Amino acid sequence: MSDALRQELCGMLRDTRNLLRDLQQLGVDGLALPASHGRPGAAPERSDRGGTAARETLEQIRADLGDCRRCPLSKTRQQIVFGAGTPQARLVFVGEAPGREEDLQGLPFVGEAGQLLDRILFAMGLSREEVYICNVGKCRPPGNREPQPEEVAACEPFLKRQLAAIRPRLLVALGRCAAQTLLRDRTPIGRLRGQWREYEGIPLMPTYHPAYLLRNPNGKREVWEDMKKVLRRLREEEPE
Ligand code: URA
Repeated sequence: MSDALRQELCGMLRDTRNLLRDLQQLGVDGLALPASHGRPGAAPERSDRGGTAARETLEQIRADLGDCRRCPLSKTRQQIVFGAGTPQARLVFVGEAPGREEDLQGLPFVGEAGQLLDRILFAMGLSREEVYICNVGKCRPPGNREPQPEEVAACEPFLKRQLAAIRPRLLVALGRCAAQTLLRDRTPIGRLRGQWREYEGIPLMPTYHPAYLLRNPNGKREVWEDMKKVLRRLREEEPE
């Protein structure tokens, strides 16, 4: 066996072990495998969600953001991390801000926390391609500190426009920063999580951030309870 193949197999084994551990810690007792009539996060066939008035596209919003210099984070970031996924997403996840790996790759949630988010998506029967993932802040705060209020204020109009462009059925706010920013509510995430709220008419489920779960694996069970509520509601709202 070549070294490359051995390394690849070791990587697959490690990923499988992590997945099994997380499924157990989440308390998943059955996987949401694809149903014949469609998947919960899949883009709807129809394009009439909320009317047909011309909407901005994500490309237009990204172009408007440009090589953003609206806040000091532009001086230290490597790349803007705009968001990724389908513009037809029925479900959007909003995190805090890019970390080191995201800053390097220009994609949201690709570091360790992102790999955990992938496993949560897997347990939900979803893939990255059928949801949309973005952050409150588009640039990495140095040392992974939380974005400052003025940094959030500079980015928020773009997040608002992204959500207006996608107009998902449901939103998941990952962690305190996303939940408190979107809801304009300073209640601690421990009390916000698990309760349906609304953002501009869109049902929003606040839950713990995957980075928090890496430090506090016991929180995974609560996140799975929250995600089961999300899946139930997605199914209820599925187009006939
Ligand atoms: N944490 C976040 O909130 N967002 C990312 O994209 C990565 C880590």
